[in-house]
Amino acid sequence: MNKNNVLITGGAGFIGSHVVRLFVNKYPEYQIYNLDSLTYAGNLENLKDIEEEENYHFLKADINDEESINKLFKQYQFDSVIHLAAESHVDRSIKDPLAFVKTNIIGTLNLLNAFKGIWEHDFDGKRFYHISTDEVYGTLGESGLFTEITPYSPNSPYSASKASSDHFVRAYGETYDLPYVISNCSNNYGQNQFPEKLIPLFINNIINKKPLPVYGDGNYTRDWLYVIDHARAIDLVFHEGENGETYNIGGFNEWKNIDLVRLLCKQMDEKLGNANGTSEELITYVKDRPGHDLRYAIDASKINEKLGWEPSVTFEEGLSKTIDWYLSNQEWLNHVTSGAYQTYYEKQYQS
Ligand code: NAD
Ligand code: DAU
Repeated sequence: MNKNNVLITGGAGFIGSHVVRLFVNKYPEYQIYNLDSLTYAGNLENLKDIEEEENYHFLKADINDEESINKLFKQYQFDSVIHLAAESHVDRSIKDPLAFVKTNIIGTLNLLNAFKGIWEHDFDGKRFYHISTDEVYGTLGESGLFTEITPYSPNSPYSASKASSDHFVRAYGETYDLPYVISNCSNNYGQNQFPEKLIPLFINNIINKKPLPVYGDGNYTRDWLYVIDHARAIDLVFHEGENGETYNIGGFNEWKNIDLVRLLCKQMDEKLGNANGTSEELITYVKDRPGHDLRYAIDASKINEKLGWEPSVTFEEGLSKTIDWYLSNQEWLNHVTSGAYQTYYEKQYQS
């Protein structure tokens, strides 16, 4: 594969920043272009440690802006694309589905068209890698796992938009021979995650002694993966995955929300020196998320057997590292939770 100029979209976000860091440090021979429009979820502070590296370049651009995207592809001749830029929060998608259609579907199409536009007559050594989610498969009951052949059955506007973008990537492969890979991953956690998602939101609320809003009865199950392990998997799929293939990535690590929240409270109390486990007292059951998927769990045996990937840290270790990071980076937390975050929070959690 020709990897001279690698475009990573959404590199200022949570997962993207870990992928950018891994690639910039591990592959000094590649030029890494981080394209991001810096929405509320994008933050260049996430990349402070590598921003001066010679092989790192930041491009501020919106994937919805077809003209700018075409121009950038012509200018930089990206050999491969790792596409992470997206609207990523299910609750926001319930309030504003159109924003998800624009970025996740139209934005992905703009990238596919621009990539096809510069390489149409010679895709040799090129690659378009779409980072997707296990939510495209819908929900599981009490048993079973999502495999790569589980039929798509998305239930939220977010997952419907990601499913649609997966279909377009695949369709460009079939129709135009565009060389692609897709991976569908379970819930990530770790440092730099925006505190609208369960784990960082609850860490922030425990620090500030605010209620921990558990949706419904808390008996919803997610399969949690440490973000660094997702970045390692993306590195492997990018370099060794087969064109036209899909890889499921998961943590082999299912937790009911309420059990996870209790573990988080316990670890936070130990670290904060809270006597008598006071954080659990903050747990508050609130109105359920509409269309709330009961359970996600990934069968990651394909990526394990074909590419030799497996998670490197246990959940207890990963969670402990994550909490330590948020406790030592409260300035980051304060920065991202000022301003517009407060308005979002009030709207989302008003009873
Ligand atoms: P995030 O919300 O933290 O970051 C998204 C990034 O994309 C931000 O930097 C944002 O500024 C950028 N972005 C958004 N709209 C853009 C636009 N129109 N143009 C350019 N940039 C734009 O998301 P994340 O959690 O890091 O997720 C990254 C990708 O991984 C997404 O595609 C998501 O669907 C997928 N994914 C996430 C998880 C998870 O648990 N977080 C799990 C599986 C898959
Ligand atoms: O499965 C992969 C997906 O995981 C990714 O594709 C998404 O981008 C990512 O946001 C995540 O989606 P979830 O909806 O599972 O994550 P979230 O952190 O929003 O919620 C996790 C669980 O916790 C879910 O069952 C809803 C519940 N929850 C969440 C919040 C924010 C609560 O009970 N209270 C809350 O305040």
